[in-house]
This record gives sequence, structure tokens and C-alpha cells, in this order.
Amino acid sequence: MEDDVSRIKDQPIMVRLKHVVIGAIGLPVVILLGAWIGFFNVGASSGHWKVTAWFLQLAMRSAVRTYALAVDAPKVLDRRGLPAAAGHFARGCAVCHGAPGELRSPAVLRMLPQPPDLALTAGDWTDAQLFRIVKHGIRFTGMPAWPARDRDDEVWAMVAFLRELPKLDAKGFRQLAFGAREATGNEAQPSAPDTLTDCTRCHGSDGEGRGGLVPVLAGQKEAYLFASLQSFAKGDRTSGFMALPVTGLARDEMAALARHFAAQPPIPVDRDQIPAEVVQKGQQIAEAGIPERNVPACSGCHIGSDKNPVYPRLDGQHAAYLEQQLKLFRSESRGGTPFWRIMATAAQRLTDEDIRALSAYFSKRTESPQ
Ligand code: HEC
Ligand code: HEC
Ligand code: HEC
Repeated sequence: MEDDVSRIKDQPIMVRLKHVVIGAIGLPVVILLGAWIGFFNVGASSGHWKVTAWFLQLAMRSAVRTYALAVDAPKVLDRRGLPAAAGHFARGCAVCHGAPGELRSPAVLRMLPQPPDLALTAGDWTDAQLFRIVKHGIRFTGMPAWPARDRDDEVWAMVAFLRELPKLDAKGFRQLAFGAREATGNEAQPSAPDTLTDCTRCHGSDGEGRGGLVPVLAGQKEAYLFASLQSFAKGDRTSGFMALPVTGLARDEMAALARHFAAQPPIPVDRDQIPAEVVQKGQQIAEAGIPERNVPACSGCHIGSDKNPVYPRLDGQHAAYLEQQLKLFRSESRGGTPFWRIMATAAQRLTDEDIRALSAYFSKRTESPQ
């Protein structure tokens, strides 16, 4: 009797549970079956249903907002990377997003979702949110992640450029992306660059390196230039800015480019005033090292023509570039030629102040190696 009562009481719950279980197993099976027989239209021509488009935008915007909370944005964006970022934008981003004065291919305008004109939308995002998008990309949209994982410094340079973009007209954009000399004429065609003009976009036609963070190549040792191009191509040294230009370069093209830039006359690039005592401190470390911290004298490898041809020249290099590379070595974010570990070990023992002094000293050192 008691059993009967409980059976009757339980019945509606059992019935409901049964439906839920059938639904939970059945629905995915029906969806899978639908996908298998080709029921869902994946064509992009008709666009998303309104509700799908709304949901995808909501999910994307909310995820960017949430993940950006963990991003530590600098108070002031460093503008020294603007020419490199603009140069990269012209070839790596404008194809989808367009750029001032550049029309996009009609094929891109039919992408789903359509890549927005960033001059119009960059203002909708905070610096940290732009950083998050540019570093990680956006799934299911074609928006790619930054090509080099460890290079937050490059992603910040791109964020600084995106802040600049709304202020640029066609001429201003071309000047920033290609340099004053390349701004006119049609040799700077981003869609079909020849190998050398692709490099001069950032390195300048005389190899002086535009903007402080693009290195001077003029007068650098040929063997080092060649080895560096190979290390970018193999991914032993990572840089989102260099990844694209070296893609598809044949070995003999790399050799020719290395020869070309090594043959350019070195030019003094940094004319800023640096306090004499900073330069002096740099000179002291460069020539004698810091024995109590086991820092070797830099001159042992970097000064003099009798050194290994793969050890680079540092004389007359941009101070900002030297500083950044020493910090990358220190955090083991820079590889390079088969000898890069030597530098990582040396840099790990340097303080920020040593790095600043050394970079200032070498940037001012103009005499050719004895
Ligand atoms: C293959 C095409 C493609 C390339 C190349 C590309 N993007 Fe995108 N990007 C997209 C698409 C598509 C979206 C839109 C995503 C969405 O709305 O969900 C997007 C969105 C963005 C957004 C968010 C804009 C907004 O308001 O929604 C930023 C910022 C951005 N891209 C920056 C860049 C930068 C910087 C580069 C170059 C390093 C780049 N993109 C390269 C396709 C591309
Ligand atoms: C979009 C800008 C850009 C373009 C285009 C570009 N470079 Fe670079 N290049 C850079 C930056 C930025 C670095 C510094 C990379 C780093 O921080 O690791 C660099 C580094 C280098 C180095 C290493 C120099 C050193 O002292 O270690 C070589 C060699 C080089 N580039 C050659 C080339 C050649 C050859 C081309 C053309 C095929 C080219 N680059 C195109 C921006 C660019
Ligand atoms: C034992 C030899 C050796 C010593 C000592 C040495 N370096 Fe280097 N350095 C190298 C090598 C090798 C490279 C090239 C790394 C690579 O890309 O593979 C390099 C690269 C560099 C670079 C990057 C240059 C560029 O164009 O990207 C800087 C900056 C640098 N060294 C600074 C220093 C400083 C400052 C000191 C002294 C504290 C120092 N080095 C001591 C061997 C040395």
C-alpha cells in the first residue's frame, strides 16, 4: 500500500526525468545528424541570422573585456615603434582592414564577419583591449594572432599605431609606413613588393632603421646579417615584424640582401644628447666588464675587426634598439644565431641602469673597429 502511494508520487518526476534524458541525448544526435547530412548552410553569402550575429558579437566583446582585465597597460604608449608598426600594418593588416587611401579587395568585403575599418572602431576599445585582440586574434573570424608569442613589446607598438591611425590621411599613412622617400612613386606597392623595397619600408633605403626600434643594417657584418635572416626564417629568433618579410625568401636572396646592407656606409643615427657620465659608465663596462658580477667585457666580442664575423657590430646602432635587445636577451625572449646563449648569459647579470649606459655608449661610438 505504502509502495503504491510512493510509486504514484514519484511517477510525474520519473516521466519528466525520462524526457530530459531523451532530450539531452537526442538533441545532440539530431544536430550531429543535421550536420552530417549537410542541413546547416555554411555559405557566407546570406550572412548570419540576426540572433547568431548578435550572439557572436556579444561573446566576442565580453570575452575581450574580461580577458583584458589581466593586461597591465603602460600609462603612456611608447611611440618609437610607430614606423615599424605602420610598416607591418601596410602589409599584414591593411589587406583585411584597409588603410587611409588604400582600397580593399571586394573579396575581403564579403568576409563574414567583415573586418572593420580600424580608423573608425579603434576608439571603441581601451589600450588593454586592443592589446588583447592584436596579441591573441579572434576565433572563428579570420582575425589572426600576433605571429610572435613572446613579443608583447611589438604588440604594444601596434596598439600605439592603432591609436594614431584615426588621425592619419593617405599621405600621412604612407609617410609613416614607408618613410619620406618611399612615400611617393609606386615602387612601394604593398601587394607586390620586390624583395629590397619590402625591407626599405622599415629599414630605410640606406639601411638606417626607422624610428629607433628598427635596427641600423648599414655597415653591419654580412655574416651576422645573413645568419640573423636565417634565424628569423627558422623561428629561432622571433619577431612579428620580421616574420612576414622573411617568409618565402630563398637562401641566395638572403645572402644578396645581407651583402647589400653590409655594403651601405654606416651613418650616425642617434643625435640626442646623453649625459657624459652615462656614456662613460657604459664605456667602462664595455671595456672592463663588471668582474664582481661576472659580466664579461663587451669589447672582447664586439669591438675590433679580428672577432668572429657572426658577432655583430654595435657601434652607431640605435640606443633604443640596443636597450630593447639586451632586455629581450635577459628575459630569454631572444634567440638568434647558434651563439645567442652567450649573450643571454651576459645580459642576465646586467641591471636596467647598466643596460641604459651600455646602449648609450655603443650608440655614440662611431669610430670604425680597429
Ligand atoms: C585575414 C583578415 C584579417 C587580418 C590579416 C587582420 N584582421 Fe583584424 N580582424 C579581422 C576580422 C574579420 C575582424 C572582426 C572580428 C569580429 O568582428 O568579430 C577583426 C577585428 C580586429 C580588431 C577589433 C576591431 C573591432 O572594432 O571589432 C582589431 C583591433 C584588429 N582586427 C586589428 C588587426 C591588426 C592590428 C592586424 C594586423 C596585425 C589585423 N587585425 C589583421 C580580420 C583580419
Ligand atoms: C615591418 C618592418 C620591417 C620590415 C618590412 C623588415 N624589417 Fe628587418 N627588422 C625590423 C625590426 C623591428 C627588427 C628588430 C627585430 C627584433 O626586435 O628582434 C628587424 C631586424 C632585422 C635584422 C636583424 C638585425 C640585427 O641587428 O640583429 C635583419 C638582418 C633584418 N631585419 C633584415 C631585414 C630584411 C633583409 C628585410 C627585407 C626582406 C627586412 N628586414 C624587413 C623591421 C622590419
Ligand atoms: C663572448 C662573446 C660576447 C660577449 C662577451 C658579449 N657579446 Fe653581445 N653578442 C654576442 C653574439 C654572438 C651576439 C649575436 C647573438 C645572436 O643573434 O645570435 C651578440 C649580440 C648582441 C646584441 C644584439 C645586437 C643586434 O644587432 O641585435 C647586443 C645589444 C649585445 N650583444 C650587447 C652586448 C653587451 C652590452 C655586452 C657586454 C656586457 C656583450 N654584448 C658581450 C657575443 C658576445
